[in-house]
Parts: sequence; structure tokens; C-alpha cells
Amino acid sequence: MGFKNKVVIVTGASSGIGASTAIAFSAAGAEVVMVGRNEAKLKSVAAKCKNPLVLIADMRKDDDVKRIMDQTIKKFGRLDILINNAGLSSTGDIMDSESMMKSYDIIMDTNVRGLVHMTSVASPHLAKTKGNIVNISSVAALITPTFKGTINYYVSKAAVNHFTACAAAELAPHGIRVNTISPGPVRTDFIANAKLDADYDYIKTKNALNRITEPEEIADLILFVASDKGKGVTGSNFLSDNGMLVKRS
Ligand SMILES: NC(=O)c1ccc[n+]([C@@H]2O[C@H](COP(=O)([O-])OP(=O)(O)OC[C@H]3O[C@@H](n4cnc5c(N)ncnc54)[C@H](OP(=O)(O)O)[C@@H]3O)[C@@H](O)[C@H]2O)c1
Repeated sequence: MGFKNKVVIVTGASSGIGASTAIAFSAAGAEVVMVGRNEAKLKSVAAKCKNPLVLIADMRKDDDVKRIMDQTIKKFGRLDILINNAGLSSTGDIMDSESMMKSYDIIMDTNVRGLVHMTSVASPHLAKTKGNIVNISSVAALITPTFKGTINYYVSKAAVNHFTACAAAELAPHGIRVNTISPGPVRTDFIANAKLDADYDYIKTKNALNRITEPEEIADLILFVASDKGKGVTGSNFLSDNGMLVKRS
């Protein structure tokens, strides 16, 4: 899968799945735009990519999202692929409206609003290149929460799935493909950042293959869907969950 001369934006490229994806696209010859808030982490990932454009930006801020697109066009003149990966979780107790709504705002602004806004500013440019979008959702979109207080995260990923299907329908006449990849548990900083009381030894017992996915595995799937090999695929949701959904209790 060659991506020579292709320009790819990866949001949330400072860590985990986004970091592995930026490194994989760069290794495959793409020009990579890396987006995140943590400058030190972005720089250390950037050192593993070939001349990336590194942008410190917050997906919750409208001006930052517009700046990502403007600077990409200024530097490279085109956009071929958008990987909407930036995302997080935070707990909120449904019996305590203050914590519930605080978590709702952080999660929905990042996982849904930022993704919708980025898709919207990128679409006119992707129409010119007949490009494509890969949205990173989660198996969480299809089940009820494993951990107490994470309803808002599960709801946000269900929104990502439906947004993907709707956007795929609306953007198909412009030649743009839009797909979702839904990981199960992946070994990243996600659990620590979300302050969840869980560990991978426990989590892996929840899936049929009794293992945890490495971020590079999700990056491989992203590159496949974004490549010409995926040219007939749009509006699809690829699950990579180690058999979490099919596990017998
Ligand atoms: N790990 C899992 O088990 C798992 C499973 C299913 C789906 N996912 C999804 O996979 C995606 C990547 O998560 P991960 O597992 O790689 O977690 P991670 O290691 O915590 O990485 C999350 C990335 O999102 C970025 N991010 C968060 N809020 C942002 C904001 N407001 N603006 C810009 N960037 C922001 C972070 O960058 P900064 O900190 O630099 O801002 C970081 O690069 C997320 O959408 C997550 O929901 C993860």
C-alpha cells in the first residue's frame, strides 16, 4: 500500500492509535500532518516520521480546527486522507447531574463536535482529490458500559457511527469515502487518561481471544481502508475487538 504524494491528517497523533497511524503512513510514503495538544509527546512521535507538519491544536476549539485545515493547504496544497482519531473518556455519574454534564461536554465536544467540524472543513478539499475519511469509533458504540460512569463515552461513539454512515451517503456524490474503525480494548494511554479503575489483565478476560490489541494493529487496518484497496468501501464499520462481541458468558 503506497501513499507517496498523499497528504494525511491524523488527529490525536501524540499518543496510542494516532501515533502508530502517523508513523505507519509516514513509513508508507505519505506527507503526514500530526495534530494534538501535548507538544512533548507530539515531538517524540514526530521524530519517528519523515518531515511531518506538527500542529498543536485542540479539537474542541473552532479556530484550531480551521487552522489545521488552513495550515495543511498552505504547506501541502491538498488533502487526500483524514483520520479522525482524537478522543477521550471521562467519568460522569448519572445520579449527579453536575459530574454527568461536565463529562458530557468534554466528551461530546471532543469525540463528536471536533470530528464533525474537522470532517466539514476537510470535505471541500477531499472532494478535489476524491479522498477519504476514517473515523475511529469503538466497540463501545454497540454495547452498554463495562465501567460505571462511562455512559457519555458510549453515546459519543454511537454518534460517531451514525455520523459516519450519514456522511458517507452525503459525500459519495463528491467521490469521498467515509468509514469507521471500531477497536475493542487497545494498549494505549486511554485508560490512564480517563482515570478508569481497570487493568488490561481484567479487560482481556472480557473478550473471546483473551488478548489486548496493540495500536499498530489498528493502524494497519486504518491504512488498508484508506488505501486504494478499500476503494469500494464506504459507510462501513470495521470491528477489531478480539471477539468481545461474540464472547459467550
Ligand atoms: N484504547 C482503547 O482501548 C480504545 C478502544 C476503542 C476506541 N478507542 C479510540 O481510539 C482513539 C485514540 O485513543 P487512544 O486509545 O490512542 O488513546 P490515547 O493514547 O489517550 O490518545 C488519545 C489522543 O487523542 C488526543 N486528544 C484528546 N483530546 C484532544 C483534543 N481536545 N484535541 C486534540 N487532540 C486530542 C490526544 O492528544 P493530546 O493529549 O496531545 O491532546 C491523544 O493523541 C480515541 O478516539 C478512542 O476513543 C480507543
